[in-house]
Amino acid sequence: MKKIVSLSLIIGTLVLASASDAEIEALAVAKCGECHLMGEITKEKLSNMKAPPYWAIAKKAREKYEKEEDKIKYIVDYAFSPTEDKMLFPKETKEKFGVMPSLKGKVTQEEIRQISTYILEKKF
Ligand code: HEC
Repeated sequence: MKKIVSLSLIIGTLVLASASDAEIEALAVAKCGECHLMGEITKEKLSNMKAPPYWAIAKKAREKYEKEEDKIKYIVDYAFSPTEDKMLFPKETKEKFGVMPSLKGKVTQEEIRQISTYILEKKF
């Protein structure tokens, strides 16, 4: 009995420690979805895009960086301090949407790391 109790305690802690995919998707929608298409794709979202969709970000990260950690670092760094010279998107993206504003103070590093795994793991 004691064993079962401690086992379920361990499992409970593990579940709490790692946010579910749905929670991370909701976080991505809340923090980045105002501009980037994140989560469910709808007609309204497609016609209201203020920035490239998340799969375009993932594609750029994959083309430029080999290691998973480098892709995540690029997304975290860009979200906090976006500048024109760091842009992987072409000039046309900037002309269409402008350069992304910094999200410093609006999202934590840990949140962007979680969002990055969501952006990068969805395969298109
Ligand atoms: C207020 C609008 C806005 C929000 C909110 C926003 N972005 Fe962006 N983002 C943009 C725009 C516009 C671009 C395209 C221009 C550019 O690359 O800077 C962009 C581009 C990017 C790029 C690619 C940069 C490049 O050119 O290489 C990354 C990575 C990125 N965003 C990550 C994020 C993440 C992660 C979030 C949420 C935590 C987020 N953005 C929230 C507007 C936004």
